[in-house]
Amino acid sequence: MGPDLVIAGRAFVGGELKDTEIGITDGKIVFIGPKADRGGDRIDIGTSRIVLPGGVDPHVHFRDPGMTQKEDFGTGSISAVCGGVTCVLDMPNTKPPALDADSVRDKKARLRGRSYCDYGLFGAISKNRSPSKMAPLVAGFKLFMGSTTGEILTNDDTAIYKAMKDIEASGKVLSVHAEDDSLLLHEYERDCTDHLRNRPATAEVNAIRRLSPYKGMKINICHVTTSESLALASSLGFTTEVTLHHMVFDAGTGRGAKFKVNPPLRDRKTMESLYRSFGEGSVTMIGSDHAPHTADEKSQEFDSAPSGIPGVETTMPILLNMVRSGTIPMQLVAEMCSAAPARAFGMNKGSIEVGKDADLSIFDLRKTEQIGASRLHSKAGYTPYEGWGAVFPNMVLVRGEVQLQDGEFCGETMGEDIIG
Ligand code: NCD
Ligand code: ZN
Repeated sequence: MGPDLVIAGRAFVGGELKDTEIGITDGKIVFIGPKADRGGDRIDIGTSRIVLPGGVDPHVHFRDPGMTQKEDFGTGSISAVCGGVTCVLDMPNTKPPALDADSVRDKKARLRGRSYCDYGLFGAISKNRSPSKMAPLVAGFKLFMGSTTGEILTNDDTAIYKAMKDIEASGKVLSVHAEDDSLLLHEYERDCTDHLRNRPATAEVNAIRRLSPYKGMKINICHVTTSESLALASSLGFTTEVTLHHMVFDAGTGRGAKFKVNPPLRDRKTMESLYRSFGEGSVTMIGSDHAPHTADEKSQEFDSAPSGIPGVETTMPILLNMVRSGTIPMQLVAEMCSAAPARAFGMNKGSIEVGKDADLSIFDLRKTEQIGASRLHSKAGYTPYEGWGAVFPNMVLVRGEVQLQDGEFCGETMGEDIIG
């Protein structure tokens, strides 16, 4: 029996682009390289396009349930696919929050059959609730040490200590929003510079330092904003996640609420240093921290506007545009966007290898487009990257199913929870 589908063309395999054939059966990659038996459908992608592993975004907020005016799992996962992302990990600060077995089970039931990409859910760590019971249901745990959207702050060393034993026993990763809430100020804010003053980098580094007793545990520090935090987290054996926005936008002067995000955008030097660390390979992975709020909510006065920036649809396309212009190597994008997050969270995804899920994103690096909110699919309806150059995918397959073709979304709700 031949494969169901063969993709023929240049593909990122074993760390480099090579001309090859990828055989897919039952959603899995069954061979790489020329094969005698080539039954089934065949897609020849020609000479100008390349096949990359689908993106794995370890950090999105799809707002479902409870805040579906901002996003829902349908629009969020369409955005993901249209940005070359084939699997997302969704954060637990939904309404109600996913913080115990019952709420995670309810959330899973609600999402079943509604996603266009694969996904996993985080369960939130909270005081006086053991994470053990929800462990088999979640892709990972999330700890919020700083207050942000949602009400699941747990910035208490005793509560953290109590939870850690169960987390360790579960074998799951703990992703941490590392901003020490006790070091955050609450002065009136007019712009991103004020927001930065209220949420200093010391809050981040201090939160990470407080996790030193858990050195070597499977801890992932989310949206790291400074090279100092990166170095500390790495020295403790933690994985590190950065966002694109912290590497390309600084707090600037007079930047409005559309750039308001937690942790805040830093000053220019800090931002540049983070971007350099990323280029040097000192970061484990990139996550979008796709945190949509509606354009209306973001047009409020700065102080009362919610924090969060949409990004699931733009991260990989912008990075690929940087590859096109020779700013960063392809290897870095494949590692940061796909291989590393899949490895960190133990998924059978993230690289083009026999036995892995056939999650593939195909791009034509000659086709740069300008980003405009109107061509994006999030309910957010705005993007901080308006006018930026990007290379959007031409075709996307999730476990062998074509979800996007000729640059147009054509998917079905075949996305599955990676935990089942
Ligand atoms: C996130 C949100 O809106 O859910 N906001 C943000 O600024 N990043 C929450 C979070 O991850 O802090
Ligand atoms: Zn987040």
